[in-house]
Amino acid sequence: MSPFDLTRTLPADAMSAALRADVREGLTHDPKQLPPKWFYDAQGSELFEEITRLPEYYPTRAEREILEERAKTIADITRARTLVELGSGSSEKTRLLIDALGTPLTYIPVDVSESALNGAGRALLADHPGLTVHALVADFQRGLELSPTPGPRLVAFLGGTIGNLLPEERAAFLASARAMLAPEDTFLLGTDLVKDEATLVAAYDDAQGVTAAFNKNVLTVIDRELGADFDPADFDHLALWDRENEWIEMRLRARRDLTVKVPALDLTADFAAGEEMRTEVSAKFREEGIRAELAAAGMRLRHWWTDRKGRFALSLASPASPEG
Ligand code: SAH
Ligand code: TRP
Repeated sequence: MSPFDLTRTLPADAMSAALRADVREGLTHDPKQLPPKWFYDAQGSELFEEITRLPEYYPTRAEREILEERAKTIADITRARTLVELGSGSSEKTRLLIDALGTPLTYIPVDVSESALNGAGRALLADHPGLTVHALVADFQRGLELSPTPGPRLVAFLGGTIGNLLPEERAAFLASARAMLAPEDTFLLGTDLVKDEATLVAAYDDAQGVTAAFNKNVLTVIDRELGADFDPADFDHLALWDRENEWIEMRLRARRDLTVKVPALDLTADFAAGEEMRTEVSAKFREEGIRAELAAAGMRLRHWWTDRKGRFALSLASPASPEG
């Protein structure tokens, strides 16, 4: 059996059916909005990797610091033989977990970005003999069917990506993550934490404009996939701290009055100069909130680890016993 295989759970046109539905819903919504999973085509995945190396974007470095410190402990506690990772991207930090867990190990990276999965799989196998990789092109918000693999299973969701889900989506997602767990399995969750506004805003509005390019890439995806005529130069990137919701909100603001055509949807969208469209939220968390959200999904928080500066947290949870 080959140590690497890739399964597409959705036919290529199902992705674009979902894209069409999301774009129609978003552009006819008041205010306009676009859903974030469409940032990650090949170009978007590369731009995100560039974001992770920016001086302002601390979450990746903070989470890596925690993993460097705790991977051995996580391996000892979980004894996982299968590692499932949702939204795995480049799988760079995951190497720390894979190394700590040791082989034989089955790794199941799940991502909407096929290019990211191929790149990560190839790189990992080059230096991890004994690793089996079953890559899955899938939407982690749609419920996953995983092939049977050895247990116990560790399901990881790193990078603070859970913050990109809205609260109701988050609850549904956590319930589906819980449903993936057998009694001996565990869930590892990376969350960015609430902190001062200046640090947060800078992380999503860097001086070099990489995050701006990443945000605008969603327009390029819509142009390519749906034949739209968005010109990214017609929009400015905004990152705002929403104190009440405790999330960073990314927006694109029209620089002038515009009419955009989306032929595949038979739709035109008018933007007034200054009109803002939400493209992404990135929620920031506190320990008590995470504990409560995990509990509401039937999981119990077992360990809470932060980096030394207290910027980012890794939570290790397990299925709650019937008594809680
Ligand atoms: N885990 C990596 C990457 C985080 S970026 C890290 O910590 O650096 C978020 C990743 O999730 C991207 O690779 C993106 O393609 C993927 N993603 C976003 N929404 C998704 C969805 N609904 N289903 C599956 N993957 C998704
Ligand atoms: N999960 C990442 C985060 O919330 C994704 C991200 C980083 C992002 N920078 C972004 C999403 C800019 C949209 C725009 O930190």
